[in-house]
Amino acid sequence: MKKILAIGASSSTQSINQQWATYVAQQVKDATVNTLDLNDYEMPLYSIDREKEGGIPALAQAFKTQIEESDAIVLSLAEHNGTYTAAFKNVLDWASRLEGKLWANKPMFLMATSPGGRGGKTVLELAKNYLPFMGANVVSSFSLPSFYNNFNQDEGVTDAILRTQFASQLSEFTRAVERVATQLQD
Ligand SMILES: Cc1cc2nc3c(=O)[nH]c(=O)nc-3n(C[C@H](O)[C@H](O)[C@H](O)COP(=O)(O)O)c2cc1C
Repeated sequence: MKKILAIGASSSTQSINQQWATYVAQQVKDATVNTLDLNDYEMPLYSIDREKEGGIPALAQAFKTQIEESDAIVLSLAEHNGTYTAAFKNVLDWASRLEGKLWANKPMFLMATSPGGRGGKTVLELAKNYLPFMGANVVSSFSLPSFYNNFNQDEGVTDAILRTQFASQLSEFTRAVERVATQLQD
């Protein structure tokens, strides 16, 4: 059974990105889904001084271990002022100080959603460009605009055009997950 890690890059307990990431991960057949809550990885605000004084918090390694123990990642980014949420950036900063690349070359479906019409496109572009430097293997990406109009849990993506675009990205991702699963069996 493939293991997919669903991450909503937000600390909101009502996070639409967490809801969306979990839904998307559940669309991959024959897979178990683990959801990661960023609130479980809250650490002091990164600073080089704190790192020199106290080292890297164990939670940073715990976050990385969750990734390493998964076969693939579904990551949906909340956008705050055109960029990552502070909660996600803080985890990235701490985890980037550990040995080895954080995202461990696992197939990643990288997404963003927001209640607004741009659907977090700014942060999505930023992450598409940067996360590969941290070992992300981005095989699919998708931005879902106007979340409350275009998604519901029972029907999924309700807008016809978005639904088609999403389906094509999801099948790319599913193929990549299957390739990993085949390699694991070899
Ligand atoms: C401080 C703050 C900044 C925000 N900045 C943006 C933004 O730049 N672009 C955007 O589309 N939405 C922005 N929003 C709205 C978020 O997209 C919205 O809160 C969304 O629900 C966040 O995702 P989440 O529910 O997964 O946390 C902002 C919200 C807050 C609280």
